[in-house]
Amino acid sequence: MEIKIIKCLNDNYSYIIFNKETLISVVIDPSEADPIIHEINKNKFNLKYILNTHHHYDHVGGNEKLKEKYNCKIVGFEKDKNRIPGIDIGLNDNQTWKNELFECKILHIPGHTSGHICIYIKELNALFTGDTLFSLGCGRIFEGTYDEMYKSLNKLKKFPKNTKIYCGHEYTKKNSDFCFSIDKENSKLLNKIKKIKKDIQNGNPTIPTILSDEIECNIFLRTDNLKIQKQIGVNSNNPIETFTKLRDLKDNF
Ligand SMILES: [Fe+2]
Repeated sequence: MEIKIIKCLNDNYSYIIFNKETLISVVIDPSEADPIIHEINKNKFNLKYILNTHHHYDHVGGNEKLKEKYNCKIVGFEKDKNRIPGIDIGLNDNQTWKNELFECKILHIPGHTSGHICIYIKELNALFTGDTLFSLGCGRIFEGTYDEMYKSLNKLKKFPKNTKIYCGHEYTKKNSDFCFSIDKENSKLLNKIKKIKKDIQNGNPTIPTILSDEIECNIFLRTDNLKIQKQIGVNSNNPIETFTKLRDLKDNF
């Protein structure tokens, strides 16, 4: 089983998970149909399912066209079934869902939207985080509260440290600039930025990132760090206050 990264729209990533012998495939967050159709036809994949992390158009934009063309089933969060186009199968928090290709664990991680989920495939050591956790950043809070987003990020931190993170956008360079503006003395961050620059120069995605890198370098996962708190003027050891301040600073960065 392998994962193919598909660039969509301006800076979105969709992912095709496939078995190269059986050609059975599953797509995660098809932002638009055409780049997915191109890959499926080129590789003669048999597309069985679409999984959506949340309902935003740049994650579900290809749902209906792909369903019509390949007769695949669309899978998403049960409570978001009224706004995920073409949904057939609703999943719930903490559910394990099995298909012909893999077994995955679903966690509800609200904040960016109220119905956002992540998809963890143990066999691939892969976690699909949509617009909740990015490399060196996190999603904007559109429907949830700061507290919810903070808790959702903490849920993601608990996966095995070597988990590969596949997120919804290539925002890494801009995110790294923000992390660096506050966390200048973090040598691990400096090393990660070097690697990011190299990847971008070579035209490669900076994704997947590794959870351990994110825990050490992503400022939104380092809200308990006293130096960071001091740097942004949070006095008490208060991670949620730190997270809130960081998210607001990033919104205006
Ligand atoms: Fe989104």
